[in-house]
Amino acid sequence: MKGVILAGGKGTRLYPLTKITNKHLLPVYDKPMIHYPIQTLVDAGIRDILIVTGGGYAGDFLQLLGNGRQFGLTGLNYTYQEGESGIADALSLAEHFADGQKICVILGDNIIERGIEDAVNDFRKQASGARILLKEVHDPERFGVAEVLHGHVVNIEEKPRSPKTNYAVTGIYMYDATVFDKVKSLEPSARGELEITDVNNAYIREGNLTFSFLEGWWTDAGTFDSLLRASNLVAQSQPKSE
Ligand code: DAU
Repeated sequence: MKGVILAGGKGTRLYPLTKITNKHLLPVYDKPMIHYPIQTLVDAGIRDILIVTGGGYAGDFLQLLGNGRQFGLTGLNYTYQEGESGIADALSLAEHFADGQKICVILGDNIIERGIEDAVNDFRKQASGARILLKEVHDPERFGVAEVLHGHVVNIEEKPRSPKTNYAVTGIYMYDATVFDKVKSLEPSARGELEITDVNNAYIREGNLTFSFLEGWWTDAGTFDSLLRASNLVAQSQPKSE
């Protein structure tokens, strides 16, 4: 399975921190944000990775990450999203890289405590479709929210005012090769973006979306509060030095 990290977008919620750099290059405790999703994929055994970035500081990713040697990789792939038309738009740029294989997609601002190896291995065995990871949260209105009935996700709502459950859809998604046709059929949402939630709902309509719950803590890092929270969670998880 190949890995795709989506690290485009404007990062406007972190302005002025993002005035002179890309959000995913900002520090989360002792590392740049982008290090965490790379490590998550590498720890799950995924070694062929594409980073989709955009904006004015894309060259800084190359300078920071090079060919990925510090993650034990022999190379990294990069591509560039023109504009900020949404997560699914960024994903569409990975079609050539995926080359018909299954992919594991992770948002560049999603940071987790434990690994995703079990979910990735389950998806390797899944003949087709998609797999998502859910996490119970106290503020579901900030996320895509999954409605679960009889052990199946029956619908996902993007940032609902009145969430039906507390199950946030984390920014870790596994897809078969049909994902790119699904993206092509999307219309922009009210916020003018091609939404990953619409992609996931397309798999639900086909009856081909599985899920599991993510173990350990999970956070995004795209707001001042969540960026601080991410740093604190990472710091607290570090082994204490004497
Ligand atoms: O963090 C999980 C949540 O991420 C999900 O629960 C939501 O369903 C999903 O829509 C997304 O919500 P956000 O509104 O928080 O996503 P945001 O716009 O902050 O983008 C998250 C990452 O996606 C960002 O760090 C980089 C990438 N991205 C985003 C946009 C809009 C791109 O690569 N290109 C883009 O155009």
